[in-house]
Amino acid sequence: MAGLMAGFGHYTHAVVRGIPASLATEALRMQQAEVDVRRAQEEHAAYVEVLRGKLGLELLELPADEALPDCVFVEDAAVVCGDTALITRPGAESRRRETEAMKGVMQDLKMNIVEMTDETATLDGGDVLFTGREFFVGLSKRTNQRGAEILADAFKDYAVSTVPVLDGLHLKSFCSMGGPGLIVIGSSEPAQKALKIMQQMSDHRYDKLTVPDDLAANCIYMNLPNKGHVLLHCTADEFPESVKVFEKLKDHMLIPVSNQEKCKVDGALTCCSVLINKKANI
Ligand code: GLY
Repeated sequence: MAGLMAGFGHYTHAVVRGIPASLATEALRMQQAEVDVRRAQEEHAAYVEVLRGKLGLELLELPADEALPDCVFVEDAAVVCGDTALITRPGAESRRRETEAMKGVMQDLKMNIVEMTDETATLDGGDVLFTGREFFVGLSKRTNQRGAEILADAFKDYAVSTVPVLDGLHLKSFCSMGGPGLIVIGSSEPAQKALKIMQQMSDHRYDKLTVPDDLAANCIYMNLPNKGHVLLHCTADEFPESVKVFEKLKDHMLIPVSNQEKCKVDGALTCCSVLINKKANI
């Protein structure tokens, strides 16, 4: 375990993208909600500043595209593990062209690129949970079995198991990694069922951190030089009871990051960046 997980959470670079004004009216959403796009942009700027200013990651910032209202949610367009970047085929047709700019930036980063070209496959990165030792792929409204198979081909060093997503948009709408071997999971019945399936599929015993609010279970774990364990999570304004649970993690640097506007269009914290560990300068 220690060997396999040694580099888990180490990142040097992050890909992010701006928020177009079209997000307010045209971004996909599961429930009707009005978005204040200026507030969403301010919130996103603060998120980007945490990655760059506070954590010292090198940022690759793609410009917003008005024709792609959901383009800020870059996580769905690529799955990166080691030196390989899988350019996905997002489940929503309106989001397919988001992958063009993502492919360009992965080429600039000199990643090994695998493209999901099979027209029967769909996969959103929001359905992909990488634990450091295996992948879990949510089968959801956006991701299908063929998409999971292509992911398994792209990352042959790791086991890949599928998990039905019974509620919500993506697998990571109710879970994420909180540290090496630590799954953060929401309390809802669908979230707990998904956790049970992941535990049954795995030959590893994961620790779990259960938070009352499903959306609060989407957080970003990193392990960074001079900082150690870092966790970006929801704010107390959004989910006070879940924040109390995070505050029990005494070994982590805890960084609350507001996500009140982007979550109205089903964007969680992990959705807004693709994290990469690229030691060599580019
Ligand atoms: N608004 C994010 C999505 O539906 O893909």
